[in-house]
Amino acid sequence: MTSLSTVRVFVACRLPAEARAPFAERFDARFNARGRTLTADELVADSAGAEVLVVTATDRLDAATIARLPADVRVLATYSVGHEHIDVAAPKARGLTVLYTPDVLSDACADTAFFLMLGAARRGVESLDLVRSGAWTGWTPLQLLGRDVHGARLGIVGMGRIGRAIAKRARGFDMVVHYHNRSRLAPELEAGAHFHPTLDTLLAESDFLCVACPASPETRHLIDAARIAQLPQGAIIVNIARGEVIDDQALIPALESGRIFAAGLDVFENEPNIAPAYRRLPNVFALPHIGSSTLETRVAMARLLAEGIAGVLVGGPVTNRLA
Ligand code: DGY
Repeated sequence: MTSLSTVRVFVACRLPAEARAPFAERFDARFNARGRTLTADELVADSAGAEVLVVTATDRLDAATIARLPADVRVLATYSVGHEHIDVAAPKARGLTVLYTPDVLSDACADTAFFLMLGAARRGVESLDLVRSGAWTGWTPLQLLGRDVHGARLGIVGMGRIGRAIAKRARGFDMVVHYHNRSRLAPELEAGAHFHPTLDTLLAESDFLCVACPASPETRHLIDAARIAQLPQGAIIVNIARGEVIDDQALIPALESGRIFAAGLDVFENEPNIAPAYRRLPNVFALPHIGSSTLETRVAMARLLAEGIAGVLVGGPVTNRLA
């Protein structure tokens, strides 16, 4: 039987020291020595000798790159919950197991969704600018009027683990939760949220629309001009999922005109080269894809992958198999 300490793992993505430890302590682990994201050629070359390759969302593993991986590689582990960067059919074809990091980052992402909602609704960008510029002349009842988060209707697109963690927090804010999902959740998971079999009926009920669904060809530009037009006047749009789900060319004019009061965006199409308007519009509360960026969550993600790798190669439960 394989012993864990001889399992050869190459961690291609850069991780904080605390998140390298679960790999270093259990396996014969090597880490990215180049100090930057690897190109596809480097990924292939640096994986030589490894049985396990750990990548993340910024590493593109298309079918051609997967086909070039050294024959020893038996497990492809992505340090992310999103997996649109991996052509999942290709590893299956060559007998590779794919692992990912569901669950452990749902709470951190849901916290970030609330950061986005509050930052957008309470005019976070303008507030910080006012304080930092020294232009603040003192309190008046006129300054920076935002919108209430508490008591508002929240429409969640995608009621997976992250969507449900957002709904749980929303109940604490006395929000009325609506959701659209491919299928209706069981009552204990739904927890009183109103199911909408179509996105169209959800939109009219969403003072806040929170995008929490995976990126896929089906969800690309799901939130387009026609859908934005169905939201209530002055609605707030939040994206904690992937930038591709929103059509920037539709959202930006709606933000400029005030049809959409504000947006809270953690993710963007074509990161980090985002649509320039998002840098200049005062009603865009933009974060640089920090949804799961807490030290505790980074460590939990590493532990989950290490556990899955051990389970696949040495035997034991594997809770995070993608393919
Ligand atoms: C994830 O885990 O998918 C994060 O968004 C990083 O890409």
